Amino acid sequence: MYICLCHGVSDKKIEQAIDDGARSMRDLSSELKVGSQCGKCCNCAKKILNQKLIDI
Ligand code: FES
Repeated sequence: MYICLCHGVSDKKIEQAIDDGARSMRDLSSELKVGSQCGKCCNCAKKILNQKLIDI
């Protein structure tokens, strides 16, 4: 499922970036540009990030 439509970033891509070491929205933004345009994906991306960090 696409999370960030502005940059075509899927939940799988976000999860992969976290697996590769991203630990914050800033990391996700610099790696995938998530949240760097309209910002509508921020809440959803944050949820994925927080959930994944709990699992790590
Ligand atoms: Fe991610 Fe617009 S949907 S910045």
